[in-house]
Amino acid sequence: MIISSDLEVAVAEPEEGRPSRGLLRGLLAPKVMFGVVIVGFFILLAIFGPILVHTDPGTVTSARLQPPSLKHLLGTTQQGQDVLTQVIYGARISIEVGFGAGILTTLWSVVVGLTGGYLAGTGSELLSMFSNVFLVIPSLPLVVILAAYLPNSGSTGIIIVITVTGWAWGARVLRAQTLSLRRRDFVEAARATGERSIKIMWYDILPNEVAIITATFLGSVVGAILTEASIAFLGLSSVTEWSWGTMLYWAQVSGAELARAWWWFVPPGLCIALVGTGLAFINFGLDDVINPRLRADGTSARRWRRTRALAAALTFAGTRSRLVAARSRSARPALAASASAALSPARTAANPSESSPSAAGTVRQPVLQLRNLRIEYGSGVPVRAVNDVSLTLHRGEVLGIAGESGSGKSTLARAVTRLLRPPGRIVSGDMIYTSRSGRELNIAGLADAELRKFRWEEISIVFQSAMNALNPVLSLGTQIDDVLRTHRPAMRRVQRAQRVCELLQLVGISPDRASAYPHELSGGMRQRAMIAMGLALDPEIIVMDEPTTALDVVIQRQVIETIMGLRDQLGFAVIFITHDLSLLIELSDTIAIMYAGRIVELAAASQLYDRPLHPYSQGLLGSFPTLTGPRRELAGVPGYPPDMRRLPGGCSFQPRCQQAFGPCAGSVPLLLSQPAAATPAGAATAPAPQVACFLYEGNGAAGPGGGLASSRETVTGGSHA
Ligand SMILES: Nc1ncnc2c1ncn2[C@@H]1O[C@H](COP(=O)(O)OP(=O)(O)OP(=O)(O)O)[C@@H](O)[C@H]1O
Ligand code: SF4
Ligand SMILES: [Mg+2]
Repeated sequence: MIISSDLEVAVAEPEEGRPSRGLLRGLLAPKVMFGVVIVGFFILLAIFGPILVHTDPGTVTSARLQPPSLKHLLGTTQQGQDVLTQVIYGARISIEVGFGAGILTTLWSVVVGLTGGYLAGTGSELLSMFSNVFLVIPSLPLVVILAAYLPNSGSTGIIIVITVTGWAWGARVLRAQTLSLRRRDFVEAARATGERSIKIMWYDILPNEVAIITATFLGSVVGAILTEASIAFLGLSSVTEWSWGTMLYWAQVSGAELARAWWWFVPPGLCIALVGTGLAFINFGLDDVINPRLRADGTSARRWRRTRALAAALTFAGTRSRLVAARSRSARPALAASASAALSPARTAANPSESSPSAAGTVRQPVLQLRNLRIEYGSGVPVRAVNDVSLTLHRGEVLGIAGESGSGKSTLARAVTRLLRPPGRIVSGDMIYTSRSGRELNIAGLADAELRKFRWEEISIVFQSAMNALNPVLSLGTQIDDVLRTHRPAMRRVQRAQRVCELLQLVGISPDRASAYPHELSGGMRQRAMIAMGLALDPEIIVMDEPTTALDVVIQRQVIETIMGLRDQLGFAVIFITHDLSLLIELSDTIAIMYAGRIVELAAASQLYDRPLHPYSQGLLGSFPTLTGPRRELAGVPGYPPDMRRLPGGCSFQPRCQQAFGPCAGSVPLLLSQPAAATPAGAATAPAPQVACFLYEGNGAAGPGGGLASSRETVTGGSHA
């Protein structure tokens, strides 16, 4: 990759480490400032107060129980000691204990909560049990017991006691939050891009928990100051060390309340309350700063400038075209057809594969072959969500998969990318990937390390809901950059930034939106950003599971045009899943129709459009109105999708099929190629359609050439094939 010196300069300039204006503005918000002033005052008092005040707080004088005066601003104790001096000295221990215990408690909570929540298995259960045990132990008696064993250990002992008794609640909350986050699509996406567990925890989950961690920390500080005061008040700590707690202890044992010496116990109590108030204000204000959704200025000025500079440099130097051309897989067959040409109405009418890299006289090279794939969920009576699926995806081909809800489309997509979650499991079958060099590997058998490298390099996935699949607290640029950092550790930062801009431009997003957060983008932009992420490493296959379902038709068209334009430009193959058969016919080369976990028809898109063979495909196509021609009643598919746990015997579609006849209830029809005569005239170059239905000659009982029953699975009612 060539990087111009102009670009380096353009990037270097805004990198000078000035704090971002957005963050600074957030920190300067009145609530935060108010809290910072209060807490800052006490921290300064704790650090410098004892240095500036030369009097010993324990010095006894004859001025006993004096109310506040010019000589003693906060009055004196029964021993004639100066209350102000004791408050200043007391601040040191109280603040030290508060922040010391706050930091340790929070750190331990984060380690236990995050690790226990993210990692499954015995380790996670043990950590959960460990924190539950500490939660049910009454903390005050435990504090009293522990403090009794460490009477002369000073503030260090108290910090240890408070940490031991105070971490469990924070760990529990963080564990619950992590358990919920680890199932989210953006964590799944991070896992799919090959990031390691530790990095996912650190970069993807932790930033989403900053608000909770901050609240835990600030709560722990206040709690620690109060606990220290309570321990001291009970006389369980060293009462000769001055803290706000020991002041209250001496005031109580000396009967300050009875003597109406309010100036003795009110100042330390007020100090504790003020520190708590200050921390609460910081907490409220920080929530607005940390959460990009609540931040008024969600984007950092520094990053805006950097990405703008990059965009300008890219345009100036014309690097985009150079970078695209210089990519490692530039040898791919690039098509002249533009995105709009790919979507022209003529294409839907003609054989789509004529304009695809896989046709036009070239040899169709397989890139992915599924062989007798079976996937089940659960045990006992398992749901066989994908049943004996075999198909071939060719290089540069768009393979559309359609079918009603629950037919197994997403399960198939997740299996191909090895992202199936338990209780889903691949029971049998192979998924053979063929690289450009002709090397074959079985995706089903890849070990974890191989899988991390394989996924996203060779096959990537665009999830259904872009809002869920993008990390809400990381900017777009950071998320794409993460993929590059994981897979291209040798790339320099400037190269990665340049690639991010290039990818965003490829999908029609202005590079200066790299610093935007997901919530700042429209639905279509988010989906295109997901596509940009999927393209980051130039994969051979992109799996798209309903990438446009939640979008309106205008945005849907933009996204589809983007995908098709990129496919034509870069030559990757696409597995496109949707309910929308009319959309699939427009964009796919080949379409697979799924019903009850099986492929019931596999044909070129034009073949399926012109002459659907399977009664289910006919029903699906009959569900869409046409814009031209005479008005007709929509037929649709009668009945409901089957219960996957109790499929009917024989052909699963039989209860809904209006053409069902004798053999349909006896055995499962196989997916078999139809003779060339079945293909429409003029489509001789298209692959022969395959259909799983007894109606068709060559597939069994219906035609004179039947007789496949011996090789067919015989089904007893109510069980799986
Ligand atoms: N975690 C799971 N546990 C048990 N069964 C599951 C699980 N996930 C999916 N299934 C079942 O597997 C079958 C296929 O589900 P899948 O999500 O693949 O369908 P789909 O075709 O993608 O549907 P949709 O179009 O609604 O997204 C369904 O019957 C579903 O109930
Ligand atoms: S095999 Fe029979 S029930 Fe199944 S789709 Fe064909 S005709 Fe209908
Ligand atoms: Mg699905």
